[in-house]
Parts: sequence; structure tokens; C-alpha cells
Amino acid sequence: MQSSSDPGTGFEIVSSTGRYGVAVQLGLIEQLIAMPGDRVFMVDNRLKQPLLDAGLDPIVVVADEPAKSLDRMTDIIMQLRDRRATRGTTLVAIGGGVVQDVATFAASIYMRGIAWIYLPTTLLGMVDSCIGGKSSINVGRYKNIVGTYHPPLDVLIDPQAIATLSAEQKAAGLCEAAKICLCRGPETFERYAALRPTIDADGVALVPVIDLSLRTKKWFVEVDEFDKAERLVLNFGHTFGHAIEAATGFAVSHGIAVGLGMIAALHLGTALGRNYGNAPHIAGFSAHIAALLAAVEDLPDVLATARVEAALDAFQSDKKHTHDQFAVIVVSEAGTVERLMLARNAASETMINKAFETVFVAFGRDAIFTNRPPVHRVA
Ligand SMILES: NC(=O)c1ccc[n+]([C@@H]2O[C@H](COP(=O)([O-])OP(=O)(O)OC[C@H]3O[C@@H](n4cnc5c(N)ncnc54)[C@H](O)[C@@H]3O)[C@@H](O)[C@H]2O)c1
Ligand SMILES: [Zn+2]
Repeated sequence: MQSSSDPGTGFEIVSSTGRYGVAVQLGLIEQLIAMPGDRVFMVDNRLKQPLLDAGLDPIVVVADEPAKSLDRMTDIIMQLRDRRATRGTTLVAIGGGVVQDVATFAASIYMRGIAWIYLPTTLLGMVDSCIGGKSSINVGRYKNIVGTYHPPLDVLIDPQAIATLSAEQKAAGLCEAAKICLCRGPETFERYAALRPTIDADGVALVPVIDLSLRTKKWFVEVDEFDKAERLVLNFGHTFGHAIEAATGFAVSHGIAVGLGMIAALHLGTALGRNYGNAPHIAGFSAHIAALLAAVEDLPDVLATARVEAALDAFQSDKKHTHDQFAVIVVSEAGTVERLMLARNAASETMINKAFETVFVAFGRDAIFTNRPPVHRVA
């Protein structure tokens, strides 16, 4: 039972494989660990201690990009088998997006599919990736190139996990939450902005942001579960973002790269002749993302190591483009997010290049100098 002071909330997602619940409440981690049943746990290496203390034998995942590769999947499947998982076993996954990708994929293929429960522990996982049912697995040097749809039985969000996240991790989550709300339209973004989300907010204060972001994403995944139409706009900032991740050797985390990618996409919109003067929420959105990115201390240094040509190269190899058109997601003059096919030619490449360059200059090392007070020489 929830008391009136309890920030808990919950709702259901309807998917082709059935309904699953999403609950947001303090204390869910402890409840999940103590719950009896035929379960195998999978946990982020940093968060394993409470499970070990409870006498459990979890599959431990060090959350880095190689962990979510097809190569590592053999070991995960063996670990499930070693723990005597059968078709009746439920996999319980506790961790961020990497653990989620590994658990979704493993649960979708082990003995042709077993049930799983997910407790996201990063803000990005809580506001975005925990619903939708997608897994994305790396093969060789290709990131997220294979995957499956396999929604969990339940998503349990315990905001107390936010307490140990860094400012960068919180900023990354808020970039994705702001994106989801903007994609639904100006009104939803204004509702998000009214919550005044900042990286200084604690877990309880962020519950309304998690709730709004997930209920908004729920609309997208229910109308377009398999990413064919409406849901595609949620890739806003992602083609630019993935390219920035690649160009920095993944030194920029996913959510932060998406934040940079959305600013790049706004520059591309302007280059395509869009004037956002009549969509004041776009200026608010842009300022909010810039403030979040300012919290990432090493961003100027990391961007200083990236080359625009490498970013453009990665941009061009995105799987959403066709042979002769770039699939880009931009903001319309009315401030709504829309998908556009752009001819693959020198003019488009120049605009895309310029968008990368503008972001690299604005948030790269030059940004440090422009934000510093002028230095007055005394001699
Ligand atoms: N399948 C999807 O729908 C989807 C969507 C978005 C992102 N992703 C993937 O998710 C990955 C990024 O996920 P992410 O940003 O959630 O994080 P992550 O899983 O990469 O973890 C980032 C870091 O945070 C640590 N961490 C996790 N929870 C913590 C906690 N409570 N306190 C302190 N540290 C904690 C991890 O150990 C790790 O060092 C990428 O691989 C991305 O491609 C998948
Ligand atoms: Zn994303």
C-alpha cells in the first residue's frame, strides 16, 4: 500500500506479447531481492553486493560496450545453464542499459525465450530504455547491429538507485527524457520543463520526471511497437549522437552524445531554412540541453580529440539511410519533431559537416575559453 507521501506510481504497457507493468517506488530493490521463486539474477558488477549479501549467485556483468557483444553471449547462456535455468525460470536483471541489452537478448533466445523482470539503475534506463522491449547487441566493430524484441514481465523502478549516479549519468538520463517529451510535441515538453529537472535533484524529486517520460514513451511504443512509423522520431539526435560516440571512441556516453546530437540536429534544421522564432519552447529546450551538457566536466577535452571527418564518416554509415538519401530527424518551424529524407549529395554533406563542427566548437575546448572571464595582461 502507498501512503499519500509515497512518491510511488505505476501503469501498464500493452505489447504484442501481452501487458507488462511498470512500477516506480522506493524500496523495490529490497523487495525484488527477497522475492522467492525460480529465478536467476543478472546484475551490474557495481551493484552486486546486496545480492551476494542475500546469498544469491547472480550473473555479474561489467557494464562496458564489449559486455553487450554477440561474442560474450555464449558465456551468458552457459552461465544461465550452469544455474539450471529452464523454460520456467525468470531472469531478473538489475543494472543500466548494458545489463538491459544483455538480459533482453539472452532472455529472448535462451531455450527459445524465457520470462524476465527488469530493474533499471541508471536514470537513462529509468526514463527511457526500460520500456519498449528492444535489445541491441554489438557484433565486431558494429554497435547495436543485431537485436530482438522481448518485453519484460515487469519493470520495477526504485529511485533510490539514483543516489549513486554521477552528474554525467544524471545529465545523460535527462537528455533522453527531454527528447521523449519534445518528440510528443510542444505541450508535453512544456510539462517536462515545468518540473524543472536538474542534475541536482535526488531520486524522489525525479519521480515525476520518470513518470512523465515513461508515460510519454508508452504512447509511442503502443502505437508503433516495431519502430515502423511514429516511434521513429524517438531517434531524434541519435544519428548525430551515435556518430559522436564513434568519433570519440565511445568516450562520450550515449545520453550525452544524444544531447549533443539533438543540438546538431537543430543546427541542421536551421541550415535547411527553418526559423524557430515562432516556437519559443525550442529555445528553452536548447538551453536546457546545453545546461545539462555543461555538467559533463571532461566533455570539452573529449570533444577536442574528435575529428569532424570521423563523425561524418560514422553518420554516413547509419543503417537508417538509403542508398541515395539520408534519413534525418529534424524539428519543424512549429517545433514538432519530424523525419525527413535528404538527398545524399555534396550540399547535404556540407550541412551535416557544419552541424558537427558547430557542436564541436560550442561544447569542445573552445567553450572553456569563451566561458572564462577575459585575462588582463599586466606586463
Ligand atoms: N535497448 C535499448 O532500448 C537501449 C536504449 C538506450 C540505450 N541502450 C544502451 O544502453 C547502454 C547505456 O546504458 P546506460 O547509460 O543506462 O548505462 P550502462 O549500463 O552503460 O552503465 C553506465 C555506468 O553506470 C554504472 N551504474 C549503473 N547503475 C549505477 C548506479 N545505480 N550507481 C552507480 N553506477 C551505476 C555502470 O556500472 C556503468 O559503469 C548503451 O550500450 C546503449 O546502447 C539501449
Ligand atoms: Zn538513446
